[in-house]
Amino acid sequence: MAAITLPEGAAGAHPGGDGTAPRLTVIGTGYLGATHAICMAVLGFDVLGVDVDRAKIERLGGGEVPFFEPGLPELLAKALDSGRLRFTTSFAEAGEFGDVHFICVGTPQQQGSDAADLQYVDAAVTELARHLRRRSLVVGKSTVPVGTAARLTGLVQRIAPAGDRVELAWNPEFLREGYAVDDTLRPDRLVFGTASAWAEERLRAAFGPVIARDTPVVVTDLTTAELVKVAANSFLATKISYINAMAEVCEATGGDVTGLAEALAYDDRIGGRFLRPGLGFGGGCLPKDIRAFAHRAEELGVGQAVAFLREVDGINKRRRARTVDLVRELAGGGLGGVRVTALGAAFKPDSDDIRDAPALDVANTLHRLGAHVTVVDPAATDNARRSHPELHYGTDALSAAAGADVVVLLTEWNEFRQIDPAAMGAVVTHRRIVDGRHALDPAQWRAAGWEYRVLGRR
Ligand code: UDX
Repeated sequence: MAAITLPEGAAGAHPGGDGTAPRLTVIGTGYLGATHAICMAVLGFDVLGVDVDRAKIERLGGGEVPFFEPGLPELLAKALDSGRLRFTTSFAEAGEFGDVHFICVGTPQQQGSDAADLQYVDAAVTELARHLRRRSLVVGKSTVPVGTAARLTGLVQRIAPAGDRVELAWNPEFLREGYAVDDTLRPDRLVFGTASAWAEERLRAAFGPVIARDTPVVVTDLTTAELVKVAANSFLATKISYINAMAEVCEATGGDVTGLAEALAYDDRIGGRFLRPGLGFGGGCLPKDIRAFAHRAEELGVGQAVAFLREVDGINKRRRARTVDLVRELAGGGLGGVRVTALGAAFKPDSDDIRDAPALDVANTLHRLGAHVTVVDPAATDNARRSHPELHYGTDALSAAAGADVVVLLTEWNEFRQIDPAAMGAVVTHRRIVDGRHALDPAQWRAAGWEYRVLGRR
């Protein structure tokens, strides 16, 4: 990861030293909220982080980041040392303290439906509103179905003692796991969905040091701001599934999706980012966001406009099934009793996040089909073990591969890319590898006597 540099002149200085800097609260200190709270404090704001999870609040207050994110622990220490960052479980304290309140709670997929589950957003906003006694701004950052902000405006103003002197705005967040600090301090753009000039002024004050770095600001209405986030994630998911659809065609025709992707990437209009073929996308955002978007569009009678997102999801899921098939083919046609070493559990490298992780999904399917699966991951093992105790877990790739009939690379961690095929070849029972992420050099593995298979090449 690139070194983290703070926006010039911002580090340590109190923005609006003349007393105009708003005091910020961040409701929900998960991945998004903790990063936002810490970064805003480092930028010089007085910040109060709020969560209903007392254990999480105690860990953060004690200087411990409860998830894996490069650079964040150092910034948490710095923010706590400055005295500008505190944590609480009290919404009353939040209402009393804050001028601008950021809502950063999760919007997971509902059980048994593609719709987003808004219970945490509704609860956070309701609890906070009860304690809003003066003019203040509530800013949604969570990814929500279009129309939520308008509904929440009514809710807040009905409940808050300050009534319609409390306004609502939407400021979608685009941070990527693994790059969360940089994405927060130096975003590509800021999007402010506002209903009044006052709300825009408050948001500009709350992001002063970031805007001072010439960060583009798109000011728009609440509806558009809600849509921007799902439109962006849908585009990214579509791009990944597009190249993976081409991989399917390559598999059937004898083409090579790697060369195809490289050739496409030279066209500036297409570009090479998010055009890496392989096992496809997962994580806490892309899969559930495209499903919730399709679901919401159907509710609104415009389902046909985004019907392609169902296909994007379908292509993505087929990559997982295809990876399982490749392992089965290499194993000789059946998986019963086959010893498989799965390299990776996290949904992507440099993360311990296993939400909708393609890697863990494949490992679990192999297990259900009778294989003896040993999973190894540099950061996500604890999370994986909690959710899939039925799988076996190794401590490092080499020892986990001892006696393996097939090795399958599922998350492209650097340490897996650097495995020496000869060293691993010496410990496995059969030299057979499926590269689910185009992360290995086929020539090198074949030269070391491995049967090498990859998605997107016959
Ligand atoms: C994503 C968006 O990028 C971010 O803007 C949004 O705020 C949250 O969702 P993140 O979930 O951290 O961020 O993951 P990202 O880096 O976008 O990767 C998503 C998935 O796509 C991963 O599983 C990754 O392995 C996969 N991927 C990515 C590919 O399969 N091919 C690619 O070319 C790129």
